[in-house]
Amino acid sequence: MHPSKRQKAKLPVNRILVSGASGLIGGALLPALERGSMEPVRLVRGPARGPGEISWNPSAEPPGAGLASSAVAGFDAAIHLAGESVVGRWTAAKKNAIRDSRVLGTRTLATALAHADPKPKVLVCASAIGFYGDRGDEVLTEESASGRGFLPEVCREWEEASRIAAAAGIRTVNLRIGLVLSASGGALGKMLMPFKLGLGGRMGSGGQWWSWVHINDIVGGIEQALHTESLAGPVNMVAPNPLRNAEFTRTLASVLGRPAIFPVPRFALALAFGKLAADELFLSSQQVKPAKLQMSGYRFQFGELRAALESLV
Ligand SMILES: NC(=O)c1ccc[n+]([C@@H]2O[C@H](COP(=O)([O-])OP(=O)(O)OC[C@H]3O[C@@H](n4cnc5c(N)ncnc54)[C@H](OP(=O)(O)O)[C@@H]3O)[C@@H](O)[C@H]2O)c1
Repeated sequence: MHPSKRQKAKLPVNRILVSGASGLIGGALLPALERGSMEPVRLVRGPARGPGEISWNPSAEPPGAGLASSAVAGFDAAIHLAGESVVGRWTAAKKNAIRDSRVLGTRTLATALAHADPKPKVLVCASAIGFYGDRGDEVLTEESASGRGFLPEVCREWEEASRIAAAAGIRTVNLRIGLVLSASGGALGKMLMPFKLGLGGRMGSGGQWWSWVHINDIVGGIEQALHTESLAGPVNMVAPNPLRNAEFTRTLASVLGRPAIFPVPRFALALAFGKLAADELFLSSQQVKPAKLQMSGYRFQFGELRAALESLV
């Protein structure tokens, strides 16, 4: 079938449950959903402050104890973005929090949705291109196997946890998200200061592939996943043109009108973030293609890095 024909099958989605709504992606997504006349309800970790919020405990055990199925009945869709930030030193406690917040949180939500009556038609669950690990120059699609390391392990367990919903007949999409570029923070926010001061440069050898995505396309991609029946399982959420880190950082410096002459060596990244986090977050190489999203007919607003950065900085 021609991709444009697939795109026409827009499914009705009105009431949407969203976890992690206060985060970088949620902050852009919720206003967009509201503009589209949808009614997002936030899943919050503290007490609910009104009818627009439902309280949950993502890490309660056994799964299901942290969220009653009756509380999540009657939604058309759920979008699951919650998880401890991966940025910071990966101490044993931080690694546990990164893993548990995702795996237990997904189990809790998926279990509640699976038993809800009526249950939603679709669950869009965040995952990450960290699933693939460090893969050199290999071109990675949703068909590619997972890699080795902490993040690939977490992503496998995270996606596995969402199968509780899939097994109950809820169409479940695991969005393998790349490096999100946003004016509101995230990785770009952290990189801007040194680059603005002319102190930026490639990280490590600079030969590693960075698969980035503009925040507008995350919002667009999530909406595509909500409305497109043919999308299920892993879906890469990255722009179609990944770049090597050296070219990425050169482009960022050029957009800011600054030089990019100060390479950031591995030991400096390891000092700032710890060796493991530096290797898996900044130095690992992932050349990822959004094969399923493009097949579904999605058209990226930002396919080229320069235009994406110019729109943000
Ligand atoms: N941004 C990226 O570049 C990127 C790349 C790949 C994958 N992802 C994934 O996409 C999802 C959303 O990303 P994001 O950038 O919007 O994340 P974010 O800004 O770090 O926000 C995540 C949200 O999760 C909730 N949260 C924080 N700590 C938690 C914990 N310990 N347990 C349970 N919930 C917790 C918070 O929402 P509440 O306070 O409202 O509960 C927080 O606002 C995350 O799972 C992330 O791993 C993001």
